[in-house]
Amino acid sequence: MKAAGVNSVTLGVFSWAKLEPKPGAREFGWLDRLMDLMYDNGIGVVLATPTSSPPPWMGRLHPDTLPRDEDGRTEWWGGRQHFSHSSATYRRYAAAITEDLAARYGSHPALTMWHINNEYCTYDWGDEAATTFRRWLQDKYDTLEALNTAWGTAFWSQGYGDWDEVLPPRHAHYLKNPTQVLDFKRYTSDMLLECYVAERDIVRRHTPHIPVTTNFMPMWVGQDAWKWAGEEDLVSVDMYPDPRDPFGAQNGALIQDMTRSQARGGPWMLMEQAAGPVNWRGVNHPKPRGLNRLWSLQSVARGADAVCYFQWRQSRQGAEKFHSGMVSHAGEEGRTYQEVKRLGAELAALGPEVTGSHIEADVAILHEWNAWWAGAQDGRLSSEVDYPQVVRAWHRALWEAHLTTDFAHPEHDLSAYKLVVVPQLYLLTDAAIDNLLSYVRAGGTLVCGFLTGVADEDDRVRPGGMDARLRELFGIRTLHEWWPLDAGETAECDGFRGTLWSEELEAARDAELIVPYKGGELDGLPALLRKGRAWYLSTLPEPPALRDLLADVAAGTGVRPPLDGLPAQVEAVRRGELLFVFNHGRETVTVEVPDTHRDVLTGEQVTGSVELARYGVAVLAP
Ligand code: GLA
Repeated sequence: MKAAGVNSVTLGVFSWAKLEPKPGAREFGWLDRLMDLMYDNGIGVVLATPTSSPPPWMGRLHPDTLPRDEDGRTEWWGGRQHFSHSSATYRRYAAAITEDLAARYGSHPALTMWHINNEYCTYDWGDEAATTFRRWLQDKYDTLEALNTAWGTAFWSQGYGDWDEVLPPRHAHYLKNPTQVLDFKRYTSDMLLECYVAERDIVRRHTPHIPVTTNFMPMWVGQDAWKWAGEEDLVSVDMYPDPRDPFGAQNGALIQDMTRSQARGGPWMLMEQAAGPVNWRGVNHPKPRGLNRLWSLQSVARGADAVCYFQWRQSRQGAEKFHSGMVSHAGEEGRTYQEVKRLGAELAALGPEVTGSHIEADVAILHEWNAWWAGAQDGRLSSEVDYPQVVRAWHRALWEAHLTTDFAHPEHDLSAYKLVVVPQLYLLTDAAIDNLLSYVRAGGTLVCGFLTGVADEDDRVRPGGMDARLRELFGIRTLHEWWPLDAGETAECDGFRGTLWSEELEAARDAELIVPYKGGELDGLPALLRKGRAWYLSTLPEPPALRDLLADVAAGTGVRPPLDGLPAQVEAVRRGELLFVFNHGRETVTVEVPDTHRDVLTGEQVTGSVELARYGVAVLAP
C-alpha cells in the first residue's frame, strides 16, 4: 500500500459478523491490529459501521429484521444488505454496535472519517414497514381525508376508511395507485436516511471533529441524493462506468458533475471504482492500459479530492472473487497493480496543487428524484422514455460541446448560471415553477425538454397537460396531444430528426417557431420554439443536433468551452488555476493551448500546443 501511495483505507464495511459473532458479543482485536497497522504506516482510516450486512444470527433470532419484497417473499441472509430499514430490532442492534465502535476508535489516531453503512439501497414491503409507512403518511397528511384526496382514491374504489387499510404498494392485480407508489418511494428514501442519521448522530457525539459520509450509488433511483447530501459532512460516490461503453467517459463526467453539485460545489470523494473489471455485468471487461489513470484523473478534474477503489486485494473467495482489486490475482507484478502504483505517485504530486479548489460552471442541468419517481411509473404513454437516458442525452450534448455543467435541483438558486437546461421534469412543485419563471425574468436562458411540468406534487396532471405558467413562458397556446415515438422511430424536423417523443403543439402568437416538424401528422407544428430566452423542445433531437443546438444557445449567452477548437475525443476542464486536458481516444492528438504552461504531471513547459497520446492527460498550470 505504501509503495502505491495509498494514504487512506476504508475498513469494516460488511464486518458485522466478525465484530459481533454472537448477540451482544464484541471482537475488536482484529480491528485494533489493523487500525494500529495503518497508523504506524501513515495511512488514515475511513472507518465504516458494519450495518449493511447483519450476521446470520440476527435473521435467525429476529426474523423481523429481514425485509420482504412486494410479493411478500423474505430476503434471507446469505447475500448482503438483508436488513429492514423499518425494523426496530435491526435499528437497536445497529445503534449498539455503532456506539461501541465509536467509543473504541473515536480517539484512535488513524481515524480520519466515518463511513456509515454502505450504498443504502434496500426496500421493504413487510408488516413493520407497513406500520412505518402509515406513520410517515400520517406525518405528511395528518388526516385520511387528505391522503384520499392526494392519492385520488375515488378512482377504482380505493378510498381508505381506516389507517390500518393503508399498505405499501404490494403485488396487485393491475396498475397500482401512482401516488401511493410515489409516496412509497419518498418514504423509502426517508427511512434509509433515518437509519443513516441515527448512526451519524452516534458517531458525531463521540467525534464531532471527524467528518461523516455514506457512499452513494450514482443516479440511484431509490435515494433522493439532494436531500441526503445535506446530511453528510462530505459527499462520496461509487463509480463503475463500463470500459467498453463508447460513452463511458461522458457517463463518468455526468456522475462527477452530479456528485460535485450534491456537494454544493465543494470537494467530494470518489469512494469506490474498479482498477479492472467488475463482476456484475453480463460480460465484464478489464480496463485497457491507461484507462484507470485517465478516468481517475477525470474525477480529480471534476472536483474529487480523493480517488479510492473497491477493493485492495482481489479476494479469493466469496461472491466478488472475479471483481478486480488494486492488487489483482496476478499479484504485485500484474499490470493492474503496476498502473495503480504509478497513478499513486502522480496523485501525490497533484494533490497539493488541486486539493480544495473549485470548478466554475456556467451551465446547469436540472434533475430531481420526485420527477423521476413519478414519471417512471406504469400506465404512462411510452415505456421507451427512460428518465436517466434522457438526462444522459442532454449531458452528453453539453459534454460533446465541451461545456462544463453543474446539476441543480429545480428549487435551487439558479442565478449564477447563464444557461439552465431541463432534460425532463415531469413533476414540478409550484415553488420550482416559480423558480424557473424568476430565473428567466432575471435574464437567464432556459432550454426545456418535453414532459416537463406535466404533474403537480401529488402526480395530478396540471390543467392543459403542462403547467399554464410554463406554457405562457415558452409561448405554447395549446398542447393538443402527446405523440410518443416507437423504439427506433424518428420524427422528421426541419434540420434534424427527433427521437422518443413528439407533440401536437399550438404556438402562442408571441412565440417564435424555430424548427417545425416536417411531414406526417405534425407537419408545420413546432418541434422547437422559443419565447425570448425560454426555449422548448417537444422531441429529443438526435445527438449531433442536440449538441449543436445547446452549443449555439450557450454561445448566445456568452458561455464558452475552456479551449477553442477541441477535437471530438478531447475533454478540457478547469479546476481552480489548473486546466485538465484528456484524450479519451486511442489516436494521438495535438491540442492547441494559448500561452505557456507547466504540466504538473511531467514538470515540463508547454508552449502553443500539447500532444496527447492514447488516453493521455495533461494538467496545465499557468
Ligand atoms: C459496490 C459495493 C462494493 C462492491 C462493489 C462492486 O460499490 O459498495 O462493496 O460490491 O459495488 O462493484
